[in-house]
Amino acid sequence: MNAIMPVEVQAPMQPFSSDQTIGTALALMTRAFAAAGIDSAQRDARFLLQSLLGLDGAVLLTQPQRSLGDDALRISDAVRRRLAHEPVSRIAGRREFYGRNFVITPDVLDPRADTETVIDLALDIIKSKGWAKKALSIADIGTGSGILIATLLAELPNARGIATDVSPAALTIARQNAERLGVAERVTFVAARGLEGCVGPLDLIVSNPPYIATDKIAALEPDVRNYDPMIALDGGPDGLRVYREIAEDIAKLQHSSCVVVEVGAGQAADVKNVFSSVGWSLLGERNDLGGHARAVALEIHS
Ligand SMILES: C[S@@+](CC[C@H](N)C(=O)[O-])C[C@H]1O[C@@H](n2cnc3c(N)ncnc32)[C@H](O)[C@@H]1O
Repeated sequence: MNAIMPVEVQAPMQPFSSDQTIGTALALMTRAFAAAGIDSAQRDARFLLQSLLGLDGAVLLTQPQRSLGDDALRISDAVRRRLAHEPVSRIAGRREFYGRNFVITPDVLDPRADTETVIDLALDIIKSKGWAKKALSIADIGTGSGILIATLLAELPNARGIATDVSPAALTIARQNAERLGVAERVTFVAARGLEGCVGPLDLIVSNPPYIATDKIAALEPDVRNYDPMIALDGGPDGLRVYREIAEDIAKLQHSSCVVVEVGAGQAADVKNVFSSVGWSLLGERNDLGGHARAVALEIHS
């Protein structure tokens, strides 16, 4: 049986029943999402079924006749949430980043694929400096779900880290993710603004701070505006508030070396100016798939 062959007539919003099959659910979900204008309709339907049923992707194709059983209500609820434009990663409560799975909750930003440019650029710099085996000291400012620090520590087994966030609830999720990846004993989680209370030296500081200008938030897609925490989005009147805080903090730290930050589309020049005003110079940049400078690295010679 083909997983997306025409199925029995059913209004897409009707809850599924336990005897309906995975193949039927996949077809109805795809159709309902497409009708709601969701571009990734079939991909989203597959992802939700796989995540919520805990299935390997191949099972959707090879066993479409399996019934939904006790999961029918959960799947129906997921459909309702997706039709209200909740991102699939939020519904499933997980997001893949740099090949690893992270738990996400309403308390943290839903990590974006573009943020992988921060990891790529940081690892390139570490390699070019011959630091891959060094006992590096790394800070992640505004850690959210912990994707940056946990990924770097997983990639760099001799490194240790400090992860800060103004949101204690986000730090709870970051710690949970670090534990899942087996790196928690190498991270100190601190509820703080910027690098408040941290002492150097730090070899590397990474951050994906909130960088949306306050007056642009209302125009964001509902998937973002209604689901990401406001504190993870709002970068102040010009979007640069937290970059300035980071620049002030690192200017006070002795013997710190490089910073790699994510920037919004079109923000790279302004962010470089913020850091050059405290003596840091450009070390490298990495573009996202859309061709925008997305990660910017700066260094200081002390
Ligand atoms: C854009 S999210 C990034 C989260 C995560 N690093 C990621 O890339 O998915 C920004 C995070 O910074 C935190 N934050 C906002 N202002 C901050 C500040 N001044 N100092 C530290 N953290 C801050 C927010 O709570 C949020 O978790």
